[in-house]
Amino acid sequence: MTDPRLRFGVIGVGIIGRQHVARLLSDDSPADLIAIADVSEDAARAVAAEHGTVAETVDGLFARDDIDAVVIAIPSGLHAETAVAALDAGKHVLLEKPIDVTVDAADRIIDAERRSGKVLTVVSQRRFAPENQFLREAIQQGDLGKITSANIEIALWRTQEYYDSGAWRGTWKLDGGGALMNQGVHMVDLILWLLGDVEEVHAYGGLLAHERIEVEDTIAITARFASGSMLTFLASTTANGELPIRVAVMGDGGVAVTLDEQYAHFTTANGREVPDFEPNDVGMAGLNDFVAAVQNGHAPLVTSQQARAAVAFIEAAYDSMRTGKPVVPR
Ligand SMILES: NC(=O)c1ccc[n+]([C@@H]2O[C@H](COP(=O)([O-])OP(=O)(O)OC[C@H]3O[C@@H](n4cnc5c(N)ncnc54)[C@H](O)[C@@H]3O)[C@@H](O)[C@H]2O)c1
Repeated sequence: MTDPRLRFGVIGVGIIGRQHVARLLSDDSPADLIAIADVSEDAARAVAAEHGTVAETVDGLFARDDIDAVVIAIPSGLHAETAVAALDAGKHVLLEKPIDVTVDAADRIIDAERRSGKVLTVVSQRRFAPENQFLREAIQQGDLGKITSANIEIALWRTQEYYDSGAWRGTWKLDGGGALMNQGVHMVDLILWLLGDVEEVHAYGGLLAHERIEVEDTIAITARFASGSMLTFLASTTANGELPIRVAVMGDGGVAVTLDEQYAHFTTANGREVPDFEPNDVGMAGLNDFVAAVQNGHAPLVTSQQARAAVAFIEAAYDSMRTGKPVVPR
């Protein structure tokens, strides 16, 4: 007998929450959407009417026993409060990135996950790109030899209007940071997944090309992995062009460079070649992974501990940016 389909609620129906609603309602969805909620009841009603679904309050959604799991897509600094309440109400949680904006908040979520026995994952869609899965496998197989260094460049452009579009954007409390916490967290997660734990972080950063925000829009980081290999990492929202996101991994057996996840270089001493990749809907792959983790009782690809590690790296970079000293991530 196949498992009954998982029944979802979505909390927060802003830009990203609406994408989750559409995905859960699409023909390819592995699950059902039962109801949505937003602190703005008008927003919830409008999105419910548009998609032919039900609007609830957040507490009403937690109280429903026909909802097994919730997607949480609200401002980042509110993630722990709502994720802990959801877990304590007995719901599995698919939480938008970052897990929250501090390690302490991440730890509150991890405690609630443990006591509830429910599954929690954090969205980190880059891990579901087949090009990145291939890179991880190649590194683990030793195709690049001993990894000596890596370089990440996520140099994006965000307009002033973007930061002005929501009161929470660009605040330490609710966005938790700027180019690194909001946009760069995807690449922090990716490089930790590829290369393991980081021992020490040093950073310079500042607000260089935007106004009316508290956080950095440019940050340059160096770090050392526990393996001994070195990392340089640039994150900015001040590069007014269409630069691709660059990931480079260098080893004594080969090098790999991707630009927006397309291979620009992959050269190995053992002659390994990059295969053809099937296009993949990374958002749907993440949803499928979470549903399978709940139904089969295994860990999701992105665990709460790994999501915490990304925030620990970022917190260390911000500490270093303020003090000028190298910082060991918590
Ligand atoms: N995975 C990705 O690539 C990606 C991309 C963008 C944003 N995000 C993440 O998604 C989250 C939301 O970002 P967004 O751009 O959709 O923001 P948004 O401002 O467009 O939407 C947030 C929504 O949450 C609602 N809300 C606020 N507090 C709430 C609460 N306590 N309970 C219920 N609803 C509440 C707001 O009314 C709003 O509708 C952030 O954590 C962000 O980092 C992820």
